Amino acid sequence: MAHKVIFDTDPGVDDAMALLFLHRHPEVDLLGITTVFGNAAIEITTRNALFLKREWNIPAPVAKGANETFDPARPHAGWPTFVHGDDGLGNIGVPDDIGIDPDPRPAHQFIVDTVRANPGEVTIVAVGRMTNLANALKAAPDIAGLVKQVVIMGGAFYCPGNITPAAEANIHGDPEAADFIFTAGWPIVVAGLDVTTKTHMKRHFLDDMAVRGGKDVELLQRVSDFYIKFYAHAVEDGMLVHDSCACVYVVAPELFTLRSGPIRVVCGGIADGQTIQKPDDMQFGASLWDGMAPKQVMVDVQSDKVLDLLSRTIAG
Ligand code: BDR
Ligand code: CA
Repeated sequence: MAHKVIFDTDPGVDDAMALLFLHRHPEVDLLGITTVFGNAAIEITTRNALFLKREWNIPAPVAKGANETFDPARPHAGWPTFVHGDDGLGNIGVPDDIGIDPDPRPAHQFIVDTVRANPGEVTIVAVGRMTNLANALKAAPDIAGLVKQVVIMGGAFYCPGNITPAAEANIHGDPEAADFIFTAGWPIVVAGLDVTTKTHMKRHFLDDMAVRGGKDVELLQRVSDFYIKFYAHAVEDGMLVHDSCACVYVVAPELFTLRSGPIRVVCGGIADGQTIQKPDDMQFGASLWDGMAPKQVMVDVQSDKVLDLLSRTIAG
Protein backbone atom coordinates (compact mmCIF):
# COMPACT_ATOMS: atom_id res chain seq x y z
CA MET A 1 0.00 0.00 0.00
CA ALA A 2 1.31 3.46 -0.91
CA HIS A 3 2.57 5.84 1.78
CA LYS A 4 0.25 8.85 1.95
CA VAL A 5 2.52 11.88 2.33
CA ILE A 6 2.14 15.59 3.02
CA PHE A 7 5.38 17.36 2.08
CA ASP A 8 5.99 20.48 4.18
CA THR A 9 8.76 22.40 2.45
CA ASP A 10 10.56 25.72 1.79
CA PRO A 11 11.87 25.26 -1.78
CA GLY A 12 14.87 25.54 -1.71
CA VAL A 13 17.29 23.63 -3.93
CA ASP A 14 17.51 20.41 -1.92
CA ASP A 15 13.76 20.63 -1.31
CA ALA A 16 13.26 20.51 -5.09
CA MET A 17 15.12 17.21 -5.44
CA ALA A 18 13.20 15.76 -2.50
CA LEU A 19 9.90 16.79 -4.10
CA LEU A 20 10.75 15.13 -7.40
CA PHE A 21 11.71 11.96 -5.51
CA LEU A 22 8.36 11.86 -3.68
CA HIS A 23 6.47 12.59 -6.89
CA ARG A 24 8.23 9.83 -8.80
CA HIS A 25 8.39 7.09 -6.17
CA PRO A 26 5.78 4.42 -6.96
CA GLU A 27 5.10 3.70 -3.26
CA VAL A 28 4.36 7.35 -2.41
CA ASP A 29 0.94 8.95 -2.77
CA LEU A 30 1.68 12.67 -2.47
CA LEU A 31 -1.47 14.20 -0.98
CA GLY A 32 -0.27 17.77 -0.72
CA ILE A 33 2.62 20.21 -0.65
CA THR A 34 2.55 22.75 2.17
CA THR A 35 4.94 25.67 2.07
CA VAL A 36 6.73 27.43 4.88
CA PHE A 37 9.18 30.34 5.09
CA GLY A 38 12.84 29.47 5.56
CA ASN A 39 15.07 29.36 2.53
CA ALA A 40 13.17 32.47 1.40
CA ALA A 41 10.01 34.41 2.34
CA ILE A 42 6.70 32.57 2.02
CA GLU A 43 5.71 34.35 -1.22
CA ILE A 44 8.88 32.99 -2.83
CA THR A 45 8.81 29.45 -1.42
CA THR A 46 5.14 29.14 -2.41
CA ARG A 47 5.80 30.51 -5.90
CA ASN A 48 8.66 28.01 -6.20
CA ALA A 49 6.48 25.08 -5.10
CA LEU A 50 3.87 26.09 -7.70
CA PHE A 51 6.60 26.41 -10.32
CA LEU A 52 7.95 22.91 -9.60
CA LYS A 53 4.40 21.51 -9.56
CA ARG A 54 3.81 23.01 -12.99
CA GLU A 55 7.15 21.98 -14.51
CA TRP A 56 6.90 18.39 -13.23
CA ASN A 57 3.12 17.95 -13.65
CA ILE A 58 2.60 17.14 -9.98
CA PRO A 59 -1.12 16.71 -9.26
CA ALA A 60 -0.89 17.41 -5.50
CA PRO A 61 -2.19 20.84 -4.38
CA VAL A 62 0.07 23.48 -2.87
CA ALA A 63 -1.10 25.18 0.34
CA LYS A 64 0.64 28.33 1.49
CA GLY A 65 1.89 28.39 5.07
CA ALA A 66 3.55 30.50 7.69
CA ASN A 67 5.70 33.56 7.19
CA GLU A 68 6.05 34.27 10.88
CA THR A 69 7.62 32.30 13.74
CA PHE A 70 5.45 30.37 16.23
CA ASP A 71 6.37 33.00 18.83
CA PRO A 72 5.85 36.26 16.89
CA ALA A 73 8.15 38.09 19.32
CA ARG A 74 11.17 36.15 18.03
CA PRO A 75 13.42 38.38 15.84
CA HIS A 76 13.56 37.55 12.12
CA ALA A 77 16.42 35.13 11.34
CA GLY A 78 17.03 36.32 7.72
CA TRP A 79 17.13 34.43 4.41
CA PRO A 80 20.03 32.17 3.32
CA THR A 81 20.34 33.70 -0.17
CA PHE A 82 24.03 32.68 -0.22
CA VAL A 83 22.93 29.00 -0.13
CA HIS A 84 19.78 28.89 -2.31
CA GLY A 85 20.04 32.16 -4.30
CA ASP A 86 17.79 35.24 -4.22
CA ASP A 87 14.96 33.30 -5.87
CA GLY A 88 15.38 30.27 -3.57
CA LEU A 89 16.08 28.04 -6.58
CA GLY A 90 19.68 28.86 -7.45
CA ASN A 91 18.98 32.11 -9.33
CA ILE A 92 17.65 30.35 -12.43
CA GLY A 93 15.09 33.12 -12.97
CA VAL A 94 11.82 31.59 -11.76
CA PRO A 95 8.89 33.50 -13.33
CA ASP A 96 6.78 35.60 -10.94
CA ASP A 97 3.44 34.38 -12.21
CA ILE A 98 3.05 30.61 -12.42
CA GLY A 99 -0.62 30.60 -13.45
CA ILE A 100 -1.73 28.11 -10.79
CA ASP A 101 -3.60 29.09 -7.63
CA PRO A 102 -2.67 27.60 -4.27
CA ASP A 103 -5.23 25.67 -2.23
CA PRO A 104 -7.54 28.20 -0.53
CA ARG A 105 -6.67 26.88 2.94
CA PRO A 106 -3.61 27.94 4.93
CA ALA A 107 -1.04 25.14 5.19
CA HIS A 108 -1.76 24.28 8.82
CA GLN A 109 -5.48 23.87 8.06
CA PHE A 110 -4.66 21.72 5.02
CA ILE A 111 -2.55 19.50 7.30
CA VAL A 112 -5.31 19.21 9.91
CA ASP A 113 -8.04 18.43 7.34
CA THR A 114 -5.92 15.88 5.47
CA VAL A 115 -4.77 14.04 8.59
CA ARG A 116 -8.32 13.89 9.95
CA ALA A 117 -9.62 12.61 6.61
CA ASN A 118 -7.03 9.77 6.57
CA PRO A 119 -6.76 8.63 10.20
CA GLY A 120 -3.64 6.58 10.94
CA GLU A 121 -2.41 6.83 7.35
CA VAL A 122 -0.62 10.12 6.76
CA THR A 123 3.13 10.62 6.97
CA ILE A 124 4.10 14.27 7.25
CA VAL A 125 7.58 14.92 5.86
CA ALA A 126 8.71 18.34 7.10
CA VAL A 127 11.90 19.77 5.62
CA GLY A 128 11.67 23.47 6.48
CA ARG A 129 11.03 25.33 9.70
CA MET A 130 8.60 23.53 12.03
CA THR A 131 6.14 26.44 12.07
CA ASN A 132 3.29 24.89 10.04
CA LEU A 133 3.44 21.71 12.12
CA ALA A 134 3.35 23.69 15.34
CA ASN A 135 0.43 25.80 14.12
CA ALA A 136 -1.46 22.67 13.02
CA LEU A 137 -0.85 20.91 16.33
CA LYS A 138 -1.83 23.96 18.36
CA ALA A 139 -5.07 24.38 16.39
CA ALA A 140 -5.92 20.66 16.45
CA PRO A 141 -4.07 18.64 19.14
CA ASP A 142 -6.01 15.50 18.07
CA ILE A 143 -3.83 15.17 14.95
CA ALA A 144 -1.00 13.90 17.17
CA GLY A 145 -2.95 10.66 17.61
CA LEU A 146 -4.08 10.49 13.98
CA VAL A 147 -0.85 10.74 11.96
CA LYS A 148 1.07 7.63 10.97
CA GLN A 149 4.40 9.38 11.57
CA VAL A 150 6.23 12.68 11.17
CA VAL A 151 9.61 12.58 9.43
CA ILE A 152 11.72 15.70 9.80
CA MET A 153 14.86 17.09 8.24
CA GLY A 154 16.33 19.26 10.93
CA GLY A 155 18.64 19.44 13.88
CA ALA A 156 22.18 18.40 14.70
CA PHE A 157 22.33 15.90 17.56
CA TYR A 158 25.79 14.36 17.86
CA CYS A 159 27.58 16.78 15.51
CA PRO A 160 27.93 20.57 15.01
CA GLY A 161 25.22 22.73 13.47
CA ASN A 162 25.38 24.52 10.14
CA ILE A 163 23.90 27.96 10.80
CA THR A 164 25.70 28.31 14.15
CA PRO A 165 28.11 25.84 15.77
CA ALA A 166 25.15 24.68 17.88
CA ALA A 167 22.16 24.78 15.54
CA GLU A 168 20.88 23.52 12.20
CA ALA A 169 19.03 26.02 9.98
CA ASN A 170 15.50 24.55 9.95
CA ILE A 171 15.38 24.38 13.74
CA HIS A 172 17.27 27.64 14.29
CA GLY A 173 14.68 29.46 12.16
CA ASP A 174 11.91 28.68 14.66
CA PRO A 175 13.17 26.97 17.85
CA GLU A 176 9.92 27.46 19.81
CA ALA A 177 7.95 25.68 17.07
CA ALA A 178 10.48 22.85 17.05
CA ASP A 179 10.41 22.38 20.84
CA PHE A 180 6.60 22.37 20.74
CA ILE A 181 6.39 19.63 18.12
CA PHE A 182 9.22 17.52 19.56
CA THR A 183 7.63 17.44 23.00
CA ALA A 184 4.20 16.40 21.67
CA GLY A 185 3.03 12.79 21.76
CA TRP A 186 3.25 11.90 18.09
CA PRO A 187 5.77 9.55 16.47
CA ILE A 188 8.71 11.53 15.04
CA VAL A 189 11.80 10.38 13.17
CA VAL A 190 14.49 12.99 12.56
CA ALA A 191 17.07 13.21 9.79
CA GLY A 192 19.52 15.74 11.15
CA LEU A 193 22.97 16.81 10.03
CA ASP A 194 24.30 13.60 11.66
CA VAL A 195 23.18 11.74 8.52
CA THR A 196 22.65 14.44 5.89
CA THR A 197 26.27 15.63 6.08
CA LYS A 198 27.34 12.06 5.28
CA THR A 199 25.23 12.01 2.11
CA HIS A 200 27.24 13.76 -0.61
CA MET A 201 25.93 13.91 -4.15
CA LYS A 202 28.72 14.76 -6.56
CA ARG A 203 28.16 16.96 -9.60
CA HIS A 204 29.08 14.15 -12.00
CA PHE A 205 26.46 11.91 -10.34
CA LEU A 206 23.75 14.55 -10.89
CA ASP A 207 24.99 15.14 -14.46
CA ASP A 208 24.60 11.44 -15.13
CA MET A 209 21.07 11.53 -13.69
CA ALA A 210 20.25 14.44 -16.03
CA VAL A 211 21.46 12.51 -19.07
CA ARG A 212 19.13 9.63 -18.19
CA GLY A 213 16.25 11.72 -16.85
CA GLY A 214 15.84 14.33 -19.60
CA LYS A 215 14.36 17.79 -19.16
CA ASP A 216 12.82 17.28 -15.70
CA VAL A 217 16.16 16.33 -14.21
CA GLU A 218 17.96 18.97 -16.29
CA LEU A 219 15.87 21.50 -14.36
CA LEU A 220 17.19 19.98 -11.13
CA GLN A 221 20.70 20.21 -12.52
CA ARG A 222 20.28 23.93 -13.36
CA VAL A 223 18.71 24.69 -9.99
CA SER A 224 21.57 22.90 -8.16
CA ASP A 225 24.55 24.70 -9.74
CA PHE A 226 24.53 27.68 -7.32
CA TYR A 227 24.07 25.35 -4.34
CA ILE A 228 26.96 23.10 -5.42
CA LYS A 229 29.19 26.18 -5.57
CA PHE A 230 28.10 27.14 -2.04
CA TYR A 231 28.95 23.64 -0.78
CA ALA A 232 32.54 23.83 -2.08
CA HIS A 233 33.66 24.33 1.53
CA ALA A 234 32.21 20.95 2.60
CA VAL A 235 31.92 18.72 -0.48
CA GLU A 236 34.33 18.40 -3.38
CA ASP A 237 32.29 19.43 -6.45
CA GLY A 238 29.02 18.24 -4.99
CA MET A 239 26.29 18.99 -2.48
CA LEU A 240 24.43 17.75 0.56
CA VAL A 241 20.98 16.40 -0.25
CA HIS A 242 19.55 17.12 3.21
CA ASP A 243 15.82 17.00 2.49
CA SER A 244 15.98 13.91 0.29
CA CYS A 245 17.31 11.91 3.26
CA ALA A 246 14.03 12.42 5.13
CA CYS A 247 12.04 11.39 2.04
CA VAL A 248 14.11 8.27 1.43
CA TYR A 249 13.46 7.19 5.02
CA VAL A 250 9.73 6.94 4.28
CA VAL A 251 10.25 4.19 1.70
CA ALA A 252 13.56 2.69 2.85
CA PRO A 253 13.89 3.03 6.65
CA GLU A 254 16.34 0.10 6.72
CA LEU A 255 19.03 2.41 5.29
CA PHE A 256 19.19 4.39 8.56
CA THR A 257 20.30 3.61 12.12
CA LEU A 258 18.08 5.20 14.78
CA ARG A 259 18.62 6.22 18.38
CA SER A 260 15.62 6.60 20.67
CA GLY A 261 14.99 9.26 23.31
CA PRO A 262 13.07 12.47 23.97
CA ILE A 263 14.24 15.66 22.26
CA ARG A 264 14.28 19.24 23.51
CA VAL A 265 15.28 22.40 21.67
CA VAL A 266 17.26 25.23 23.25
CA CYS A 267 15.25 28.46 22.89
CA GLY A 268 17.49 31.49 23.32
CA GLY A 269 21.04 32.21 24.34
CA ILE A 270 24.33 31.07 22.84
CA ALA A 271 22.97 27.67 21.73
CA ASP A 272 19.65 29.00 20.36
CA GLY A 273 18.09 26.27 18.19
CA GLN A 274 20.29 23.42 19.42
CA THR A 275 18.56 20.02 19.40
CA ILE A 276 19.40 17.75 22.32
CA GLN A 277 18.27 14.15 22.74
CA LYS A 278 18.22 12.29 26.05
CA PRO A 279 19.08 8.76 24.87
CA ASP A 280 16.81 6.11 26.41
CA ASP A 281 19.76 3.83 27.11
CA MET A 282 21.61 6.35 29.32
CA GLN A 283 21.00 7.43 32.91
CA PHE A 284 20.85 11.05 34.08
CA GLY A 285 19.58 13.05 37.02
CA ALA A 286 16.22 14.81 36.88
CA SER A 287 15.93 16.96 33.75
CA LEU A 288 13.49 18.81 31.51
CA TRP A 289 13.43 15.74 29.21
CA ASP A 290 11.72 13.64 31.91
CA GLY A 291 8.24 12.41 31.04
CA MET A 292 8.56 13.34 27.36
CA ALA A 293 7.76 10.68 24.76
CA PRO A 294 10.85 9.30 22.98
CA LYS A 295 11.59 10.31 19.38
CA GLN A 296 13.85 8.59 16.87
CA VAL A 297 17.03 10.31 15.71
CA MET A 298 18.95 9.03 12.69
CA VAL A 299 22.56 8.55 13.74
CA ASP A 300 23.93 6.68 10.74
CA VAL A 301 23.08 6.13 7.08
CA GLN A 302 24.02 3.88 4.20
CA SER A 303 24.61 6.91 2.02
CA ASP A 304 25.60 5.04 -1.17
CA LYS A 305 22.28 3.20 -1.10
CA VAL A 306 20.38 6.44 -0.44
CA LEU A 307 22.04 8.06 -3.45
CA ASP A 308 21.37 5.01 -5.60
CA LEU A 309 17.68 5.02 -4.66
CA LEU A 310 17.42 8.76 -5.37
CA SER A 311 19.06 8.30 -8.75
CA ARG A 312 16.95 5.30 -9.84
CA THR A 313 13.70 6.90 -8.66
CA ILE A 314 14.28 10.34 -10.10
CA ALA A 315 16.09 9.50 -13.34
CA GLY A 316 15.16 5.87 -14.09
C1 BDR B 1 18.11 22.56 5.71
O1 BDR B 1 18.08 23.98 5.61
C2 BDR B 1 17.69 24.36 4.31
O2 BDR B 1 18.58 25.29 3.79
C3 BDR B 1 17.67 23.12 3.47
O3 BDR B 1 16.64 23.16 2.50
C4 BDR B 1 17.46 22.00 4.46
O4 BDR B 1 16.12 21.76 4.67
C5 BDR B 1 19.53 22.09 5.95
O5 BDR B 1 20.05 22.64 7.13
CA1 CA C 1 14.38 22.64 3.16
